[in-house]
Amino acid sequence: MCGIYCYVGKKKAIPILIDGLTSLEYRGYDSAGIAYVTDKINIIKEKGKLTNLIKLVDKNTDTYLGIGHTRWATHGSPNKVNAHPHKQGSITLVHNGIIENYQELKKLLTNYSLKSETDTEVLACLIDKLYQENHNIIKVLSKLNELIKGSYALGIILDDDLNSIYAIKKNSPLIIAKSDIGNFLASDIPAILKYTNQYILLNDNEIVHLTKDKITIYDKRLNVLNKDVYTYDGTIEDVSKQNYEHYMLKEIYEQPEVIKNTLLPFLNGDQKLPNIKKYKQIHIVACGSAYHAGLIGKYLIEKYCHIETKVEIASEYRYQDNFIDKKTLVIFISQSGETADTLACLKKVKDICDTIGIINVFNSSIAREVKEVIYTKAGCEIAVATTKAYSCQVAILSLIAYYNSKTENILNNFNKLIQDLNNLLKNDYSKIADLIKMDEKVFYIGRGIDYTLALEGSLKLKEISYINSVAYPAGELKHGTISLIENDTKVIAIVTDKNLKDKTISNIKETKARGAKVIYITTTFLDEESDFYDEKIVIPDNQLFQPLLTIIPIQLIAYHTAKLRGCDIDKPKNLAKSVTVE
Ligand code: AGP
Repeated sequence: MCGIYCYVGKKKAIPILIDGLTSLEYRGYDSAGIAYVTDKINIIKEKGKLTNLIKLVDKNTDTYLGIGHTRWATHGSPNKVNAHPHKQGSITLVHNGIIENYQELKKLLTNYSLKSETDTEVLACLIDKLYQENHNIIKVLSKLNELIKGSYALGIILDDDLNSIYAIKKNSPLIIAKSDIGNFLASDIPAILKYTNQYILLNDNEIVHLTKDKITIYDKRLNVLNKDVYTYDGTIEDVSKQNYEHYMLKEIYEQPEVIKNTLLPFLNGDQKLPNIKKYKQIHIVACGSAYHAGLIGKYLIEKYCHIETKVEIASEYRYQDNFIDKKTLVIFISQSGETADTLACLKKVKDICDTIGIINVFNSSIAREVKEVIYTKAGCEIAVATTKAYSCQVAILSLIAYYNSKTENILNNFNKLIQDLNNLLKNDYSKIADLIKMDEKVFYIGRGIDYTLALEGSLKLKEISYINSVAYPAGELKHGTISLIENDTKVIAIVTDKNLKDKTISNIKETKARGAKVIYITTTFLDEESDFYDEKIVIPDNQLFQPLLTIIPIQLIAYHTAKLRGCDIDKPKNLAKSVTVE
């Protein structure tokens, strides 16, 4: 939920820290701060977006070591005092995660005076207390796991060791990177690509000692570890906006390419998809848009493979009786591979049944813990509102259903899909955005698989335009919510399933009869001229990959509406890209 970026090397640190935090800002942007070393540790932090901090720093400062943080507030309001870094005693640190037992820890730290409301400052006090007792920071960090409940990725500097940065992580992402200008810690790989593509993955409870020319990693028994150095097969270009106004727009237009990159290894036989026919039941566990992708997976697996499939929101699933056994398969879907609730569910079930991850970020926490991982090849997804990763998740789930049911014509449908996607993306649907931009209430309705698209469309519109849209099964409206339909209420109705078309059109007419303005999304095959809609969007048919076409107007309507409303599309308020807190 927050971004951590640390550097020690032979270049001036502040410009590098600012670069890194800029790249990580999508992970949280309600305040930011840096600590850097001259003859002492200096801290500058500010409320609001990173630009507010940048105004306060001097990039020419003679410093070669620093730690930085961009925050998504969990404990304590998003203000300057609560911004990181936090300093207590000899310890200055930045933290991504949540210390769940910080109130109990506070009782052991009564001789410290807290300036902020954060759990992080309590953690700084605890580490300082332990450090004052034995002056061995590696030993202190090796004990954290016994004392702390929760999640943390920490970057730490000490008053009495101004040439080093220390780090440790548990259930929060942190990577190490090495380059010829020095060494880095970062919350994700894109943040270091400007300087290097050489990175090291850190496991939970491993401790890092970084200096300008050395990286030492210890396990919790203080043995020095010899870790693999990975080379990221991408460039900074992957994470630049190129000539798009927003990352989200770029990522919408990347969908034909990344869907192709994701499916081709399976379509040409280079990679195998899992055999799911051997399982008696399948659970799909995810959050947000990944959950919506899972709903499409359920629909297709049940329709084509006839295996009972349940789709669960991770933050609910983790506290339920899940009735799983050796005959169960649990599929975890996550773009970041770091979503705390999804990761918690994986840890809960992984020793009971088989698990598969459909993950976008290589070697992320969930990717490393599932029994089998299928990577979506969406590339770095920077916009908080997911588009291309969601589509790649749907594409993989579709292929799993079709391969396990030996469905025919997959390649023909795939080739037509890519062609039709490229054509569909020539539209921008800004006319529809203009129609709904002033509304404070928009309905998305659909039946069957179209209802899952209604859910995703509503989430997209909500999270970037802040319009309080709702999604309902079309048949459900008359059970209550149709009371909200009044003159000029916008209803976006999705009809791509010929078996459900007539019933859904009846529901559309019920809203029209009460004054609704209907935006009708349908396919060329089902298209008809009629008076039950006010605007119509016709998309190509695709027998096997229809949702991947339906989602295009839905995403672009959300994008252009948010743009007309002047919203911060890539960094919507209150949100962050990777929800690594529960
Ligand atoms: C979708 O636009 C949101 N950004 C959010 O719902 C997201 O899908 C959810 O937080 C899951 O994230 P994950 O795929 O990284 O686990």
